[in-house]
Amino acid sequence: MRHPKNNLFTLKKLILIENKRAGRETSSFSCFLPPCFCSIVKLLLFLKIYLYLRAKFKLYKTMNLKIAVLAGDGIGPEIMEQGVAVCSAIAEKFGHTVSYKEAICGAHAIDEVGDPFPEDTFQTCMDADAVLFASVGDPKFDNNPNAKVRPEQGLLAMRKKLGLFANVRPVTTFDCLIHKSPLKDELVRGADFICIRELTGGMYFGEKKEGTDYAYDTNAYSRAEVERILKVAYQYAQQRKKHLTVVDKANVLASSRLWRAVAQEMAPKYPDVKTDFMYVDNASMRMIQEPTFFDVMVTENTFGDILTDEGSCITGSMGLLPSASTGEHTPVFEPIHGSWPQAKGLNIANPLAQILSVAMLYEYFGLKAEGALIRQAVNASLNQNVRTPEIQVEGGAKYGTKEVGAWIVDYIKKA
Ligand code: IPM
Ligand code: MG
Repeated sequence: MRHPKNNLFTLKKLILIENKRAGRETSSFSCFLPPCFCSIVKLLLFLKIYLYLRAKFKLYKTMNLKIAVLAGDGIGPEIMEQGVAVCSAIAEKFGHTVSYKEAICGAHAIDEVGDPFPEDTFQTCMDADAVLFASVGDPKFDNNPNAKVRPEQGLLAMRKKLGLFANVRPVTTFDCLIHKSPLKDELVRGADFICIRELTGGMYFGEKKEGTDYAYDTNAYSRAEVERILKVAYQYAQQRKKHLTVVDKANVLASSRLWRAVAQEMAPKYPDVKTDFMYVDNASMRMIQEPTFFDVMVTENTFGDILTDEGSCITGSMGLLPSASTGEHTPVFEPIHGSWPQAKGLNIANPLAQILSVAMLYEYFGLKAEGALIRQAVNASLNQNVRTPEIQVEGGAKYGTKEVGAWIVDYIKKA
């Protein structure tokens, strides 16, 4: 990642030099006032000048971002088109330079080169500052248990090879969509939590045996793997409402008992955070009984997969949930939903999860205003009934994937 035009930084330096220089001089004005008062006045003056120049010449922190674009299968390319359009609109608005490199993955990569996450794609991801991912999956593999290679293996290979051990999945509600949740309004209103899902361990990657009469998957975790994901969870909790729920099945599973033991050891290091423990079966019930109970929950790979699909019911549509996966190498930003092959080419898929993933991408690089503008645009589109069919009000205007994306781009341009 490069920051060639970091004007904010240069300006900060200039102000410092200027302050130093000014500090050595004694103006006639300062003879009558205490020195600290003069410094405050000078500081306020500089701040005023700085804010004026910043607004006048758009002196924002600007970045050069290289983004690997992995659109994948099914509705992937359609929602990705809108995600990229929004990403570019934001870059233009705030003076960032974004370059994109497309790479294949999933079912179409199997068709083209026989590998759902080819080496070239891996290199493109490694060379990028961030990966924008859409979805993989194709029914021709789903109904064939004998298929040697599957599109989903591409996603798993990407997670493993990029070391993406921390998957952050926010579950929030949109006031105007509360009625879309199958849960009662009063339960859902105000629900706002984050599920931190461990993404490179557990049953997904443990030793497996796949026989015709006997098969198993191993749910293995090392102390180091548990510690690093808990650390991420604690850091999120510290920045939020300081409440962490560790979700496990420690009454049955050995791996869960390790999770719990490590969490109990770590909890005293974060005295500002209230840690509680919940069995996964109980957590799945609590999520629909009282979703507002949660602030940050942390759990292992398989439990996190299941609980976050449940979480999407709180929001009202799977098409609204973005995610960020971070770890050892390039971070990946992707919707939590799948490739919905039945909707491919119909211009009905909701692009908002992909667009909100772009917001998470900008926020990851510390570009809060950029993320906030995307969220504002998404909220405005929902409030003005610019919605794809699955969340549109009865009798509401028809908007497809493209139209929702174009409306949001337009909103950003005019903002
Ligand atoms: C998810 C998906 C994936 C998972 C599938 C597509 C392999 O369900 O990201 O939640 O199980 O992790
Ligand atoms: Mg899933």
